[in-house]
Amino acid sequence: ATQVPQVEKDCTSLTPPYDALLDKLALVRQILKRPLTLSEKILYSHVADPMKAFSDGGRVRGETYLQLRPERVAMQDASAQLQFMSAGLSRCAVPTSIHCDHLIQALEGAEADLKRSIVSNKEVFDFLQSAAEKYGIEFWRPGSGIIHQIVLENYAAPGMLMLGTDSHTPNAGGLGMLAIGVGGADAVDAMTGTPWELKAPRVVGIHLKGKLSGWSTPKDLILHLAGKLTVRGGTGSILEYYGPGVSSQSCTGLATIANMGAEVGATTSTFPYTPNMQAYLNATGRAPVARAADRAASQGFLSADESAEYDDVIDLNLADIEPTINGPFTPDLATPLSKFGSFVASQGWKDEFSAGLIGSCTNSSYEDMTSVANLAEQAKAAGLNAKATSIQHIFQVPFLCTPGSEQIRATMERDGVTSALVDVGAVVLANACGPCIGQWKREDKGNEENAILTSFNRNFKSRNDGNALTMNFLASPTIVTAMAFSGRLSFNPIVDSLPLPSGGSFKFSPPEGQDLPINGFTAGNVQYYPSPNPAPQPDVEIVIKKDSQRLELLEPFPSHFGEASGNMRGMELPPLKVLIRVRGKCTTDHISAAGPWLKYKGHLTNISENLLITAVNDEGGDINVAFDTDTNSSGTIPEIAKRFKTRKQPWALVVDENYGEGSAREHAALQPRFYGCAAIVARSFARIHETNLKKQGVLPLWFVDKDDYYRIGSGDVLETMGLAETLRGTPNASIELRVTKRDGQVFQILTKHTMSVDQLSWLRAGSALNHIRSCMK
Ligand code: F3S
Repeated sequence: ATQVPQVEKDCTSLTPPYDALLDKLALVRQILKRPLTLSEKILYSHVADPMKAFSDGGRVRGETYLQLRPERVAMQDASAQLQFMSAGLSRCAVPTSIHCDHLIQALEGAEADLKRSIVSNKEVFDFLQSAAEKYGIEFWRPGSGIIHQIVLENYAAPGMLMLGTDSHTPNAGGLGMLAIGVGGADAVDAMTGTPWELKAPRVVGIHLKGKLSGWSTPKDLILHLAGKLTVRGGTGSILEYYGPGVSSQSCTGLATIANMGAEVGATTSTFPYTPNMQAYLNATGRAPVARAADRAASQGFLSADESAEYDDVIDLNLADIEPTINGPFTPDLATPLSKFGSFVASQGWKDEFSAGLIGSCTNSSYEDMTSVANLAEQAKAAGLNAKATSIQHIFQVPFLCTPGSEQIRATMERDGVTSALVDVGAVVLANACGPCIGQWKREDKGNEENAILTSFNRNFKSRNDGNALTMNFLASPTIVTAMAFSGRLSFNPIVDSLPLPSGGSFKFSPPEGQDLPINGFTAGNVQYYPSPNPAPQPDVEIVIKKDSQRLELLEPFPSHFGEASGNMRGMELPPLKVLIRVRGKCTTDHISAAGPWLKYKGHLTNISENLLITAVNDEGGDINVAFDTDTNSSGTIPEIAKRFKTRKQPWALVVDENYGEGSAREHAALQPRFYGCAAIVARSFARIHETNLKKQGVLPLWFVDKDDYYRIGSGDVLETMGLAETLRGTPNASIELRVTKRDGQVFQILTKHTMSVDQLSWLRAGSALNHIRSCMK
């Protein structure tokens, strides 16, 4: 069927400067003299000064720090605005947008939830709107949708480089670009026109051949890959997909795959430009961007060079991908659907689940929604049993749907998708993150063990409903939907049937969806939309009430070296007392919990009360317990951290593998820094979090011998030896730590760091922002 294109937008500020990028790429080619991957073409054509960056002619990937100039920034709720304000500029250096999606709490349904959340968060939304007006930022008000869906629909473009203050920013890679999740301080680099630094990632090629069929979807591809790569497998790498299997996917399907690259720790994911991307740009009113991209593609910009080499290659035949369910509690525990029933039985879990949730930034495309509506229609037409509680409720469990944007919501409604879902018992929530980020006022389960099935991307403990006993499984929206008609975890819609009241049985046919609406997208309520390219209004006052419990101006962090600089220690860190040795998985959700705490995102003092409250102390195994060896007492982790702050005692953490896995949540770095943390020694770090720590002036150190983790405990004192030489310009990736145990025993261990020369100046200054400020003076 022919698709009606949306009314064409003014795409001047939406089209990447392809001519300039191609010129720079030509220069890079002259220097590097080798075929390039797509990721390299996009990344290196955004390097501020290629002659300088690549001058030593050595290996670039995995080694060279690049100074980059991203073209756009997207911010989620209160993230980088307070830091940008303290830089003292009057406007942003690149087009920037703000998206209000994390604070809408799901309870009754879209309209009531949105109304209530706007009232309860008014102070924050007013602040964000005034900051947007003052600095000329596009403001996507609450109800407009989820940041990544809006970016895909409005801003993403092939070959572009953008930053977003959320770890699922790579979603925009579905349009063949590099979209990278960062902390607020990194976003401020781009917003102030300071080159943004990134160590050139390795490039992992994922070769796709064959076709998905039946029930298998792009979500299953990435769930399968997460199982193969694990949550650390993509660290330091861009996942670049190529091969004939790419162009058989819809643009939004590719976005789902790119979105969940975050779950394997990848810097981002991308794909070569395809006809489906072109069709998506046309359908979303950006035909001029598509035409410009067509021209850039014809000059070789939007795909890898034929003989480009990858650091690793993974071959996947899409025909072999089967629907997959991942979890609970970690996104890399992948089980093929055909084995899921026996997996559940082998664990002794009940063969039931308590809710099905679809949508979120990962899976709320038109294709996803029409596919699930198709299943709902099949179930209704077959006359499946209605639940006793409601005449309409054919789903056997509560079923919640979060559309990703107002455009998707309105198009679903117009095309009968919403009514097909509501007819069988679905509740449509506001266009926002809702239960995906713990904004789910769930009233039916309390602290009971139970299982839920979602089409979201992340499933850490307590993430959705705050209950650590809720086992959260990730699947495609169609699998979640079909299983919700059974209510059983062992139900496999590909082979199993459901009983009919008439006595027979019913088996689903594979779902049929449509990637783009035949009648085009409809915008819905235009009040949600910002005016494009707003001019800054310097006279707008940004109001933060003096006694506000939701917003607080940021005070610059003092340099750790301030007091030490006059003594013999020179530029070593002051002696650091170890607050706690954290055991096992410690994600950004553990370090700075979401859900109800999100309301304090703009108030560092208040949100710091949640520091590490779900972390396990390896000395004793208790959650949220720390020891104060000075007073021989214990308390919660934030309590003891606060005591250290009051005593002006700088401190350190000792942590396990992949510390800070998960989101780009900058508070996970700001909060320990606020209480006086100066260093974190880890078996390994997750990329975004490690950078966030550096930005806030916390030194991330890696154990060289991972067994040294066990040799350091609460109350021990750490002293750096060799940092001074590094800071004085003799770069040395190793730093020795002198450890003084509580019983007086002293020994040294070796650690390494990944700080670049620039990052060392952030540490020296106390934070990256202090450094930027001093450079601007
Ligand atoms: Fe929101 Fe969940 Fe995506 S929190 S941005 S819907 S990962």
